[in-house]
Amino acid sequence: MNAVPRPAYRPEALSLAPMTAAWLNEVAHIEKLAYAHPWSSGNFADSLRAGYHACVLLQREQLLGYFVLMKGLDETHLLNITVTPDAQGQGHARHMLNEVAIWSAGQGAQWLWLEVRVSNTRARRIYERYGFKEMGVRRNYYPLAAFKREDAVVMNLPLGTTTSPPP
Ligand SMILES: CC(C)(COP(=O)(O)OP(=O)(O)OC[C@H]1O[C@@H](n2cnc3c(N)ncnc32)[C@H](O)[C@@H]1OP(=O)(O)O)[C@@H](O)C(=O)NCCC(=O)NCCS
Repeated sequence: MNAVPRPAYRPEALSLAPMTAAWLNEVAHIEKLAYAHPWSSGNFADSLRAGYHACVLLQREQLLGYFVLMKGLDETHLLNITVTPDAQGQGHARHMLNEVAIWSAGQGAQWLWLEVRVSNTRARRIYERYGFKEMGVRRNYYPLAAFKREDAVVMNLPLGTTTSPPP
C-alpha cells in the first residue's frame, strides 16, 4: 500500500520571535503540558538573563512552541525545544530545528549538541531523521519519579556541510 502523503509544511503562516519575559507564563504553561518534569518559569527567566538565544514560534498571536539555545565557542547546545501537544506532528519541531541550525552556523558554530531522555523515543527519532547522531550517554542526567534518575542520550549534528537537511 502507498503511504499517505503528508500535507506540505507552510512556514509562511508562522513567525519566530525572541522569547521575552512577557511570554514566560505561557511558556511555563505549555512546558507543564508537554513534560512530566517541566522547566520552571524561573529556569526560562535564568536562560534569558544568561543571554541564551531563545525564541517562541507563533501562529498569529498563538504560542505553538519555543526553543532555548546556548552558544559556546565553536558549538551550540539546544537546551529546550518544545511544541505544544495540540500542535505536535505537523513539522513545527523540524521548522525550529532548521532555524536553530541556521542561526548556529551563522554564529560560526560547527556542531549542534543536545541531550534527550533515553525513554523519549519520539524525540530521538525526530533528531535522528534530522541528521543528529548519538554520541554517548550521560548516566542519571534527568530526574524521574520517586527520586530515581534517567540517562540522557547525547546527540550531535555537524553544521559545516548541512544546515538544511532534506525533508
Ligand atoms: C519532540 C517534539 C519537540 C517534536 O515536535 P513536533 O512538532 O511534534 O515534531 P515534528 O512535527 O516536526 O516531527 C514529528 C513528525 O511529524 C512529521 N510531519 C508531519 N507533518 C509534517 C509536515 N507537514 N512537515 C514536516 N513534517 C511533518 C515529521 O516528519 C515527523 O515524523 P518522523 O518522526 O516520522 O520524521 C514534541 O513532540 C514535543 O514538544 N514533545 C514534548 C517535549 C519534548 O520531548 N521535547 C524534546 C526534549 S529533548
